[in-house]
Amino acid sequence: MTLRRLLRRTTVSGLAAGIVSLLLGRGNASARDDSPLQVREGIETVSLPPPETDGDVAVERAIANRRSRREYAATPITRRELSQLLWAVQGITDPESGYRAAPSAGARYPLEVYVVVGDPGVDGLDAGVYRYRPEPHDLALSARGNVQAELRAAAVGQEPVGRAAIDVVICAVDERTTREYGERGRLRYVPMEAGHVGENLYLQAEALDLSTVAIGSFRDRRVRTLVDASPDCRPLYIYPVGARA
Ligand SMILES: Cc1cc2nc3c(=O)[nH]c(=O)nc-3n(C[C@H](O)[C@H](O)[C@H](O)COP(=O)(O)O)c2cc1C
Repeated sequence: MTLRRLLRRTTVSGLAAGIVSLLLGRGNASARDDSPLQVREGIETVSLPPPETDGDVAVERAIANRRSRREYAATPITRRELSQLLWAVQGITDPESGYRAAPSAGARYPLEVYVVVGDPGVDGLDAGVYRYRPEPHDLALSARGNVQAELRAAAVGQEPVGRAAIDVVICAVDERTTREYGERGRLRYVPMEAGHVGENLYLQAEALDLSTVAIGSFRDRRVRTLVDASPDCRPLYIYPVGARA
């Protein structure tokens, strides 16, 4: 593995981000002058527009129209749409308590959300792997470059994964829930929560006139490595999302 590849695969911590910037000879850590990447406390982040909480599609209409859609237009989605999708998945809806858009047993919030951005996947955003951070409602860059082909291979070659603008990968840190609920947490509560999150994503995509499909068939370890998740993070779902074909 080359040094550049090693650095690209390194989860960006404060120190690593600084070293990457220095080694790649950039004053700031963004790849392009117009890139929205900012370095905050040594982490490369992308801010997201505030989510809408008052859309004009009735929830009944979104439920009635929801379908698994596996064809996508070859156009990027917008940062506003990405923001809305991530908010629906794990956004904080009550800042005082920290409660989120989807329910969680004991409010343990075991789910981590990664976004694999294609090329071009999101307007103005470089291809790469990003981790959603609910509290600041932003993205932290994990790795640069388009890994959609590898992710598709890990998902037993399923074409939607490689063709979508982005792939949202839902992983679970079981321990956050099993600490409280033991094995029942791992077997029941955590997968149930992934289901809640997945339905929110389906309905939000429908309301935005985007297309998505739940993907449950993939090689766990390969997906985990690709999104640079920690070894205790178990991938549960991949959701390719793209503009309607
Ligand atoms: C847990 C789960 C795993 C799934 N895995 C896949 C998958 O790997 N590939 C795929 O194309 N669809 C997958 N689907 C989508 C189903 O095929 C789809 O929901 C079903 O055909 C019903 O269609 P509908 O979602 O349009 O109502 C999965 C759905 C669920 C709930």
